[in-house]
Amino acid sequence: GNLIVTDRSGQEHNLQAAEGLSVMEAIRDGGMDQLLALCGGCCSCATCHVYVEDGYDNRFGPMTEDENDLLDSSDHRTAQSRLSCQLIVNGEQGPIKLTIAPED
Ligand code: FES
Repeated sequence: GNLIVTDRSGQEHNLQAAEGLSVMEAIRDGGMDQLLALCGGCCSCATCHVYVEDGYDNRFGPMTEDENDLLDSSDHRTAQSRLSCQLIVNGEQGPIKLTIAPED
């Protein structure tokens, strides 16, 4: 899949993500270092917080209760918030626009 990721300085990065990777992994593999992803993707740190642009959010599965609870611990939660380690890339999503959330 193709990801268009806006970093915290407002710069856009165009990334190719292999199917089956999480968006967090794809962003890290793409050489961006702003996602700390401290827990390594096991949904317990909330440092992989991103905003999925309106209209693109329905291309991923719904959030689990764990993800929802963790996002509640962020001061920067919005209606677009997701934890990128919980978003899995597949072949059918087309370009997806995301923004890295501010650090908590
Ligand atoms: Fe820790 Fe996503 S990497 S919750």
